[in-house]
Formats: sequence, structure tokens, C-alpha cells
Amino acid sequence: MRTKVAIIGGGPAGLMLGHLLTREGIDNVIVERQSGAYVLGRIRAGVLEQGTVDLLEQSGAGSRMRAEGLPHEGFELSFDGDRLRIDLAKLTGRSVMVYGQTEVTRDLMALREQAGAPTLYEAKDVALEGLEGSPVVHFTRNGERQSLACEYVAGCDGFHGVCRKSIPAEHIRLFERVYPFGWLGLLVDRPPAAPELIYAHHARGFALCSMRSATRSRYYIQCSMDEKVADWSDDRFYDELGRRLNPAVADALKRGPSIEKSIAPLRSFVAEPLRFGHLFLAGDSAHIVPPTGAKGLNLALHDVRVLFEALAEHYRTGSATALERYSPRVLDRIWKTERFSWSMTTLLHNFPEHDPFTRRMQRAEFDALAGSPTAQRMMAESYTGQFG
Ligand code: FAD
Ligand code: PHB
Repeated sequence: MRTKVAIIGGGPAGLMLGHLLTREGIDNVIVERQSGAYVLGRIRAGVLEQGTVDLLEQSGAGSRMRAEGLPHEGFELSFDGDRLRIDLAKLTGRSVMVYGQTEVTRDLMALREQAGAPTLYEAKDVALEGLEGSPVVHFTRNGERQSLACEYVAGCDGFHGVCRKSIPAEHIRLFERVYPFGWLGLLVDRPPAAPELIYAHHARGFALCSMRSATRSRYYIQCSMDEKVADWSDDRFYDELGRRLNPAVADALKRGPSIEKSIAPLRSFVAEPLRFGHLFLAGDSAHIVPPTGAKGLNLALHDVRVLFEALAEHYRTGSATALERYSPRVLDRIWKTERFSWSMTTLLHNFPEHDPFTRRMQRAEFDALAGSPTAQRMMAESYTGQFG
């Protein structure tokens, strides 16, 4: 087998890159470890920035999102029950779109199938060779070891993937912070407790009220990484969530049987640079942000848009300039996004190591934000994806 671009990983980053390349007539093959059903079963992000919405629309992948997504013109911060609305539309002239990662993935998978572009699902034990010259991707599928020769490899295989680990240690630098807590998430077919998202700080820990549609809600509570999902009945979850919210919002919570419940760790992580020879890293394989700013998916799709433009320029003109600029160009946005996600996480969570002074500083920061439209505008610009 041979192709121009081998894309490792069929999550949103890999699927979007494949979609853009296929539209441009550039041959590509996606190699994915899991089945399509498994990829669609993962419940993850829920909020799209304007730039992500534009990318989906402009590339012809936005029709269902336009029909079914929920535009949001603001969100709420809650601090020990005190509420502050961040008016995105008034502060920035922009909004965000509530449309789940699962749906983005489903739409991109359908387009790929229509276009007849190949995705090799259930490809196990992927190994990369020849990254500095002529790359070859090896994998086991249907019990057989197979090879895919290519000109470039796009590492879109997430944080635990094989691509980043294939770069020799002396050619890559890693920056990491693991937070001392996780998020326990619950998905339920009940209308949301409030019309907009609520990010809540509380002495018992952070909580988030989000949604997937007018009838499906997504809730999260900060938990210790020692917690077991099995110890959290739905009622225990709703009771704890309610305690962390303003009483009026807690009263409006509509309980129902969970359709998914899981614990996710929180991490900040960046690999530099995002290129080694003919391998380019994009999305979660290159960086992780804690989910507090809803940035992971948006950043992944920004990477692949820039990578696509560089590959398209290369195949159009033969020039390697844009490919050389890929890593510094996306790292600029990555670090700005890391800063925002880290600062939202730091403001809103309970850290076991925080002393009373640090907790007062969190409150003082919330009060400073509440008192300053300028500070709110800075937050709104980052939340909507305006990173300069
Ligand atoms: P992924 O979605 O991880 O896709 C990578 C793909 O590569 C997967 O399909 C995987 O099966 C495949 N793969 C892995 N290893 C190999 C291999 N060796 N060979 C072949 N294929 C391989 N972001 C938010 O904004 N809000 C959230 O609420 C949120 N919640 C999250 C919860 C969890 C548990 C996780 C892990 C992430 C969450 N994120 C969230 C982040 C967001 O979902 C990611 O940023 C986004 O999925 C990144 O897309 P990606 O395509 O780069 O990586
Ligand atoms: C979600 O709906 O899953 C979600 C929304 C906003 C976040 C994180 C997760 O900041």
C-alpha cells in the first residue's frame, strides 16, 4: 500500500485532516486502532469556538451542526453561589456553538465514507519507520502484518498514541503538569438546569453544568483521582452537584438515569517541536489542556487546518516553507490556549495544597473579574478563541 499522507488516528483531528486533504485531491489513508463504533462511543468535548464552526462550515461539514447546534452568546461563572454572566456577544461580538465532539466525528466519518476515502479501523501495533526519509507505517490488521508507504505522516493519535513516542528523546521537549484531581462526568436525557453553561467554584470542589441539546445535559464535578465510578450512584452525583451550585440552579436540576458516567484526569502538556522529519504531530498527540476552558477539540482542529494548508501548499508548489513554519505557528496558539485553560482551572478548582491565603486570592480574582468589564473581555476573547 502507498499514499501521500498517512494519518495515524481517526479522532476529530485525523478525520478533519483527511476531509480537507481529500477535498483538495491529496491522497490520504487513516490508520485507526479502534473500531468506528468505539470512536463514536467516547463522550468528550461539547463547545465549539467560532473558528471551529467556520472551518466546519467552509469545508462542507457544517450542515447538521447549523441545524442542530445551539449557539451560546454567554456563559456563567458561579463562586460559592454568587453568579456572574460573561456576555460573549456584547464583549466580543462572537458566540460559541454547543455541538458535541461525537456529532462532529459522526459528520466527518459520514463525509469520508461518501468520498470513498480509506480508513483502516482496528489496525493494531502501529509502528513508524523511516521518518527522516521515506516513511513506512506498519500495523496488524485482520491478523496480518501490513505496510503503508507514504510521503508524510500526520500524528493525530491522541495523548497515548505511538507517533510522539516515535520521536527520539533528544529531538523533542515535553512540558507537563498533572492536576491533583479529575472530573466525574454524567450524561443524561433531561433538559439542562440553565439555558447557558455554568462553571462553578465551591469549597467542596468545582462543578460544571453543560449540555448537548435542549433535552440532553452533561454535568461534571471535580473528584479525587482515587474515586471509583461504581461508588457514584446517580443520586449521589446529583446531590453533590446540587451542593456546589447556586440554590436556584440546584432546584432546577432535572434528574434522570445516566446514560454515561466516567472520570477524566486533568493535565496540561505540550511537546516541542511538533515536527520530526516527515512526521507532524497535531491535536492531543502534541498537547493536552485541562477541559475547564473547552479548548482541547478546538485546538486540535486549529492544528490540522494549519497542517492542511502547509501540505496543500507543498503539493501545489513544491515549496517546503509552510511545512517548516507549521510547528512555530501552531505552538504560538497552543501556549496561549495552555495559559487560558490553566488559569481557568486554577481559578475554579479546589487544590488540596492551597492555604487559606491562596483560597482568598481565588475569591479576589473572581471579584476583580466581576468588577471589571476589561477583565471580562479578556476572558471572553479567550473563551471564543481570539488569541491574537
Ligand atoms: P483523540 O480524540 O484522542 O483521537 C485520537 C485517535 O487516535 C483515537 O481515535 C485513538 O483510538 C487513535 N489512536 C490512539 N493510539 C493509536 C495508535 N497507536 N494507532 C492508531 N490509532 C491510535 N475537550 C474539551 O474541550 N471538553 C471536554 O469536555 C473534554 N473531555 C475530554 C474527556 C476525555 C476522557 C479526554 C481523553 C479528552 C477530553 N477532551 C475534552 C479533549 C478533547 O476531547 C480532545 O482534545 C480531542 O479529542 C482531541 O482530538 P484528537 O483527534 O487530537 O485526539
Ligand atoms: C462539555 O460539555 O463536555 C464541556 C463543556 C465545557 C467545558 C468542558 C466540557 O469547558
